[in-house]
Amino acid sequence: MAVAQKISVFMEKSSWIRKMFEEGTKLKKIHGAEKVFDFSLGNPNVPPPEIVKSLLLGLVQELAPGMHGYMHNAGLPEARSAVAGQLSIEKGVALQPDHVVMTCGAAGGLNIILKTLLNPGEEVLVPAPYFVEYGFYADNHGGVLKAVPTHPDFTLNIAAMAAGISLRTKVLLINSPNNPTGQIYSSAALSELSRLLTEKSREFGQTIYLVSDEPYSKIVYDGHQVPSIFSHYPNSLIATSYSKDLSIPGERLGFVAVHPEAEDVAALLGGLTLANRILGFVNAPALFQRVVAGLQGACVDVAHYRRKRDLLVKSLRDAGYDLINPPGAFYLFPKSPLADDIRFVQLLQEENILVVPGSGFGGPGHFRIAYCVEDPTIEGSLPGFRRAMERALNIRESELTP
Ligand SMILES: Cc1ncc(COP(=O)(O)O)c(C=O)c1O
Repeated sequence: MAVAQKISVFMEKSSWIRKMFEEGTKLKKIHGAEKVFDFSLGNPNVPPPEIVKSLLLGLVQELAPGMHGYMHNAGLPEARSAVAGQLSIEKGVALQPDHVVMTCGAAGGLNIILKTLLNPGEEVLVPAPYFVEYGFYADNHGGVLKAVPTHPDFTLNIAAMAAGISLRTKVLLINSPNNPTGQIYSSAALSELSRLLTEKSREFGQTIYLVSDEPYSKIVYDGHQVPSIFSHYPNSLIATSYSKDLSIPGERLGFVAVHPEAEDVAALLGGLTLANRILGFVNAPALFQRVVAGLQGACVDVAHYRRKRDLLVKSLRDAGYDLINPPGAFYLFPKSPLADDIRFVQLLQEENILVVPGSGFGGPGHFRIAYCVEDPTIEGSLPGFRRAMERALNIRESELTP
């Protein structure tokens, strides 16, 4: 067989998100795009801020010699410096440009972090539900992903974390605002978490690193903010990107920032830079590094997403769905009215509604709605969501009746 066994297995069980996306393409061919309500992908639909276009146009008109060349594997000095300046304001800790490595998106950032930190067999602890690619990323670098439960509202369960940490734990990976739940981990929870990590690092005689994956940190509503892990725990790294807050996921631009007081900070930064090279990223895309150097702090208009969230949360609750009103990101994670979320997702599919089963995120009994879609998709889907709920309730009743 041409394909390695492990990749064959991964392809087989790989991402529900992709499966649903492919299903959507099929359904759209049969019924027409406007009759299919596709909530499967977290692909931002709000246009990038105007400044992205104006900076791009300016750069393209002034193409200077060497602009397309290789560079330091950690990125362009002007981009690293702009990011360090902005982060020093946002995160409450002063960073130098050297503390920043520009990456190919948050995904590239997480991969260079895990490549740098993990010895074979070491564990990456993650609160569930979690972004499904984490398992693959840990495996890419010889690590093992270990999920620990959160509370029913998806906030951090510190006792479960404490029980999950072992001598093999090297990384605790959090994602806030969270994909798939939209939940934000509070400052109080991060405080407790950092106390726990300090204690356990001391007990086991080896540092546990806190990694925060934050591509949704600016997609927040109702005055919520994402607390800074840097103000809580020095052995910490941030991986993030401009994919969601500037709506440019295809441009693959992000960065990793290392806390200036992390142990072995210079070695860590050296490892991240080398990993960027040897994983084949070499450096983050040059043109977009120049763009983001000029627009730190910019963000899409989140009012669009808030309106969509409000409409869906209210309509789904009216239809009998049980869900939290998420403070961030652009996902809802309602309870499935059938215990078997895959079965319920199939009922929705029969209504031409595409969502992703929670099982795919380590959150069985739920399903994920990515609401970064046009308003008519939301409005057109509502009767189908209502009918699917009625059918699920009938199924539940008939299965209870002897
Ligand atoms: C939680 C989370 N982390 C990382 C990524 C990857 O982001 P990027 O496209 O910037 O690599 C995503 C993308 O959806 C995500 O949801």
